[in-house]
Amino acid sequence: MSDRPYIVGNWKMHGTRAMLSEARAIDRAAQRYMKAEVAVAPPYTLIHAVHREAEQIGVGAQDCHPGADGPHTGDISAAMLADAGAKFVILGHSERRGDHRETNKLINEKIESALEAGLRIILCCGESLETRDAGEAEAFVLKQLKASLPKIDDAAERLTVAYEPIWAIGTGRTATTKDIAAMHKAIRGLLDETYGEEASAQVRILYGGSVNPENAREILSTEEVGGALVGGASLSAESFLGIVVAAS
Ligand code: G3P
Repeated sequence: MSDRPYIVGNWKMHGTRAMLSEARAIDRAAQRYMKAEVAVAPPYTLIHAVHREAEQIGVGAQDCHPGADGPHTGDISAAMLADAGAKFVILGHSERRGDHRETNKLINEKIESALEAGLRIILCCGESLETRDAGEAEAFVLKQLKASLPKIDDAAERLTVAYEPIWAIGTGRTATTKDIAAMHKAIRGLLDETYGEEASAQVRILYGGSVNPENAREILSTEEVGGALVGGASLSAESFLGIVVAAS
């Protein structure tokens, strides 16, 4: 794994071709802040266009079908994403787990298909406010990961985990650095157990949930935080680069 902080913008269901100017601005500025590894995950419709613009930043996707190809109207395979220029895919995001009732088993199948297609994986996990308030956040997140983590030999070198407490996504409220450090330490312990400490060390653990230029430096300097998965603040080059600068 690179020890560079990994700053990834998840554009979610935002983005028409007008966003290409933001992608261009991020890409050109990223050349000056090369300490961080920078990437964006636009909607499917913009992956190829952003890939053609991008000289420095990585381009990825926000989901994929678990199958290789076939009669799945409206779905997109990992191989198609790679063909369009995607280098990674975000899987298991809480919005997909919620909106599409995605199970850990399905996410594991998607991960294996994406690894097969040569993509890197950003595997998301995170608890609801009810689970956190019940004191069960760590147990819940580790159960999610245990059921989703790929068991393929070289998986760790292409794996990133993103801890995104559901109650911090889009709310302007982040987890405390104390809670982030505790959860990331627990996730690291599971990765050590699953892949061995040497392989586990290749896996960066990102934090996501209301990261912005004002709070990024504190969050990114928290132990075991290897970067950020950014939603709203990644939609403008100015705010996203504010986070990249904080990581540099
Ligand atoms: O995947 C990143 C996203 O869920 C975080 O969203 O808007 O809270 O930064 P946001």
